[in-house]
Amino acid sequence: SAQAAAAAANTLAELQTALESYEGCGLKRTATNTVFADGTPAGGIWFIGEAPGRDEDRIGKPFVGRAGQLLDKMLLSIGLDRNVNAYITNVQNWRPPDNRDPSPEEAAQCLPFLRRHIELADPGLIVLLGAVAARHVVGISDGIMKMRGRWLEYRVGTRMVPLMPTLHPAYLLRQPAHKKLAWRDLQAIAARIETIGLPRVPGRAN
Ligand code: URA
Repeated sequence: SAQAAAAAANTLAELQTALESYEGCGLKRTATNTVFADGTPAGGIWFIGEAPGRDEDRIGKPFVGRAGQLLDKMLLSIGLDRNVNAYITNVQNWRPPDNRDPSPEEAAQCLPFLRRHIELADPGLIVLLGAVAARHVVGISDGIMKMRGRWLEYRVGTRMVPLMPTLHPAYLLRQPAHKKLAWRDLQAIAARIETIGLPRVPGRAN
């Protein structure tokens, strides 16, 4: 039924409404808000995380807590801003209790909405934040430390969208020594943005 509800939506607004009225995911019953997305969808650079945490559940937007503040800094360091040219969403739209990982079933319940979301907005480039997004969006079962920084592709109709898995900002808050790896990935992402000519925030790039 997630598949049918997602497929019936022809705009992002319709998709958000369809998700908000979807009752097939148990996590919705314990969540305060449905967390759909934030930012500039069309043609932008997409960042896909795992699931809303406490702050996101309270406010109804993705990445607004501590990990979100770090994500905003990471974006800004390569000339991206969610209000201008970046878009942020999650694999899971409802907060799992106690911030546990979403189960494979729970992720599968939201995934048709995410796939339709990508199809409708047609992003310019996709960055997967952390192992959970990498596992569910492109089926990577190798560890994120092995897969981060590698270019993959995500098919949208006949178009192949460049996609890179990198480290999740919440992980970087716990393991700050690994920020240099994320920084390396961000530099590669910035270079790719440069070659495909996507919009950047003027005067903010390092
Ligand atoms: N972590 C995520 O993966 N997503 C959010 O929205 C917030 C924290």
